[in-house]
Amino acid sequence: MSKLIRNHDFLSNRGGKLFVENVSAEKLAAKFGTPVYAYSELRIRENARRVKSALAFTPEISRGLIRSELFYAVKANNNLSILSILRNENLGADAAGPAEIELAQRAGFPKNKILYSGVFHSDEELKFGLKSGVAVNVDSLSAAKRLLKFGKPPLFSMRVNPGITGGKIRGLIFAGSDAKFGESVANVLQGYRLAKKAGVKKLGLHMMTGSCILDENYFAAAAEKLLAIAGAIRKKIGIKFEFIDIGGGLGIPYRLNEKILDVEKAVKLTVKVFAAGVAKFDLGNPKLLLEPGRFLVGDAGVLLTRIQTIKPKTPRQARGKAFVGVDAGMQTLLRPALYGAWHEILFAGNLNAKAVKKVSIVGPICENTDQLARDRLLPKLAEGDLLAILDTGAYGFGMSSNYNTRARPAEVLVSGGKAEIIREREGLKEIIGRQRVPNRLKK
Ligand code: LLP
Repeated sequence: MSKLIRNHDFLSNRGGKLFVENVSAEKLAAKFGTPVYAYSELRIRENARRVKSALAFTPEISRGLIRSELFYAVKANNNLSILSILRNENLGADAAGPAEIELAQRAGFPKNKILYSGVFHSDEELKFGLKSGVAVNVDSLSAAKRLLKFGKPPLFSMRVNPGITGGKIRGLIFAGSDAKFGESVANVLQGYRLAKKAGVKKLGLHMMTGSCILDENYFAAAAEKLLAIAGAIRKKIGIKFEFIDIGGGLGIPYRLNEKILDVEKAVKLTVKVFAAGVAKFDLGNPKLLLEPGRFLVGDAGVLLTRIQTIKPKTPRQARGKAFVGVDAGMQTLLRPALYGAWHEILFAGNLNAKAVKKVSIVGPICENTDQLARDRLLPKLAEGDLLAILDTGAYGFGMSSNYNTRARPAEVLVSGGKAEIIREREGLKEIIGRQRVPNRLKK
């Protein structure tokens, strides 16, 4: 057994075969079919503990000067078993919509550890949030007005666009002038005025400015900005915040040569700035909230897919490339098609094989963006071989679809030598069973 890939200790090379914890990828594929997402329970717990202890060991938190809480962004992976693991690790849940509130409750998160942070809410969604009795975070003055007309949440929070953003992927920038998210400082201020008038007792302040950020300094810089905004609000209308939430965004390296985020450093710098801001702006004792998604589950997931069709390069014809067609595609993993995202790909059946040839790994969908990897240097592959696409635990299954009338894949949780199904593969019933044909068209 040898170490396979940095930062992925739950994966190993045993005699050339890929193992996820103590189960071989081939066994997973044979037992559960492909494509299948397999998650390492161990890695999810390790990731959660790493962020929790990074927080706990900062001087300010360990001395009790600052309080903090870690929430999990359910949208990264909404599987109930994964939610249960993270609830068991004592995290809270950040829910993007009614069904995520419902999932968080089913996974056992208590109401006071669920934050409902939708964007561009409908009235129905706001009412659902109120009925669930969870903290509600709105991202517009409009939603604030509508929410407060319908009722009073136990905690009211607003998402501000602080005009600072990080991250390198264009699609993952969530603040600044091109971002649809959050509200201006002036409108947020107005929202809090209304909440105060309505008699809401507890208030929070929130931002989420970008995703997959690998720069340790960014989080502190963004927090500094948010605290200054909190200070300005406090000064103008005299409110105190129960929490100040700096959002998610902790990145993971998708490429082997990309830097690994030093999460301890990022957290340490952030908490330091947070403590200084709280003192400077006389903010009382607000909790620092972090709500990562990707960092907790991203590198814990592997997508297993089997090669179905190989089209070799045919130099004298139009096709100057070799295409390796697998049973996963953009309907299974959308990130490459949507953001040009890179995921490492391993030949699970023979990890010791030398990479010899550039091929494109493509799916079965009728779109030419359905390419999971373009011109990737890989070993010689044959139809029937099994590939593993790494770092697919976050925004993998969650962004899958039924496009081309395809089934969403199965999900499996690996824990030591155990592999358990945690979401069944869809069948025809799920894919087409909800369609209705008016009688007049049946003739
Ligand atoms: N909080 C809120 C309000 C969010 O909208 C998000 C992610 C998070 C927390 C967690 O962010 P993270 O820690 O995972 O960066 N589909 C994209 C990622 C979109 C993230 C959307 N919001 C991808 O595949 O990379």
